[in-house]
Amino acid sequence: MDKIVIRGGVPLKGDIPIAGAKNACLALMPATLLTDAPLTLMNAPRLSDIRTMTTLLQSLGAEVSTLHRGKVLALSSHDLTSERAEYDIVRKMRASILVLGPLLARTGRAEVSLPGGCAIGARPVDLHLKALEAMGAELDLRDGYVHAKAPGGLKGAVVEFPHVSVGATENALMAATLAKGTTVLKRAAREPEIVDLARCLRAMGAQVEGEGTDTITVQGVSALGGATHRVVTDRIELGTYMLAPAITGGDVTCLGGRLDLVPAFAEKLDAAGVSVEETDRGVRVSRKNGGIGAVDVATEPFPGFPTDLQAQMMALLCTADGVSHLEETIFENRFMHAPELIRMGARIDVAGGTATVTGVERLKGAPVMATDLRASVSLILAGLAAEGETVVSRVYHLDRGYEKVESKLGACGARIERVDDE
Ligand code: UD1
Repeated sequence: MDKIVIRGGVPLKGDIPIAGAKNACLALMPATLLTDAPLTLMNAPRLSDIRTMTTLLQSLGAEVSTLHRGKVLALSSHDLTSERAEYDIVRKMRASILVLGPLLARTGRAEVSLPGGCAIGARPVDLHLKALEAMGAELDLRDGYVHAKAPGGLKGAVVEFPHVSVGATENALMAATLAKGTTVLKRAAREPEIVDLARCLRAMGAQVEGEGTDTITVQGVSALGGATHRVVTDRIELGTYMLAPAITGGDVTCLGGRLDLVPAFAEKLDAAGVSVEETDRGVRVSRKNGGIGAVDVATEPFPGFPTDLQAQMMALLCTADGVSHLEETIFENRFMHAPELIRMGARIDVAGGTATVTGVERLKGAPVMATDLRASVSLILAGLAAEGETVVSRVYHLDRGYEKVESKLGACGARIERVDDE
């Protein structure tokens, strides 16, 4: 199994290109199921999660080919052959549930394995199911699968989510495009990935309004056509690499980055003493003068501070001057990186949903273990700042969400390499 070895202490300087958003792409790919015409996605990231979604769509009969070294995905669901998303694929990636809405809307039937738990909490799919039920789906949960039917087709409905869910909003939005009548999604997620999906659906002929606000209105149409769509920039990859110069005291431009993708995160960096500037090339980040100051952070749905940047921000605050509090409000059990950072000399106390971080002057390299995608990259950031050698194992988590980490950081001077353990 691969490991990543980092010898820390180098201030990173240079440019890091930011890829298309994994989470946007994972919602855009199932949109192929809504139409028999081709869908082309440009600026796709080259990640194992994208390959998992490819395998899932192919198991349903969709054709998925990759062009331009994987950066373009050509999808066609002209001839679907199955309505069943098998456990063996779904258990690898929760986003697999996103095929449920579009399959049901197009074919009137779907059987999708329930995703089960994951490292960062229970993560149920009840909101996805309730939204589809409100649109007239008949659901039956048996043998670990959702068996869904909509014999007369889905019908427009008013769906008020009890709290914000990105995935449930995406599933309901896709299903609503082919439902009869008007669907109103209230307390809808406002994430840039939702906006990107809505834009792509509109290019396919869907009638969608209000994306980016908490109320999305969809006028159902009888069929959708094809489209070519460019995947939005990955705001989580952007935020992660913005932290690399912040934690090492360097100067990096994240190419293609935009501050409107990370508003609350950029504000917190600024408050912590980091200069964040949007230029015509992207987002340039360096320290203002000297050290990092302590800040308090609470994760929130967009436009608030993203839960997917909480672990990486914690790595930065481990070296801040003073005491910071990080409150996780989206997922329970999302502090598994804390014990690993503590092995590197960090001072962190976790109580309930809040981590109290007392800054130390310097982190120290250590062997550490990645527990999930964002935790793994937080350990890499910590390793870049630490004295001595850090070895991060279980990096397959990293490969789900970050392409070419070693070469992107290495190009800015980081001493980082991937080694094969066996
Ligand atoms: C998406 C992102 C993930 C990110 C998360 C929150 C993808 C592929 N993944 O995940 O990286 O961390 O948004 O920004 O886009 N919930 C329910 N019932 C449901 C659905 C969700 O209770 O049916 C809860 C979840 O357990 C969680 C909260 O709602 O506590 C938000 O989850 P949600 O926004 O749905 O996250 P995902 O779409 O799974």
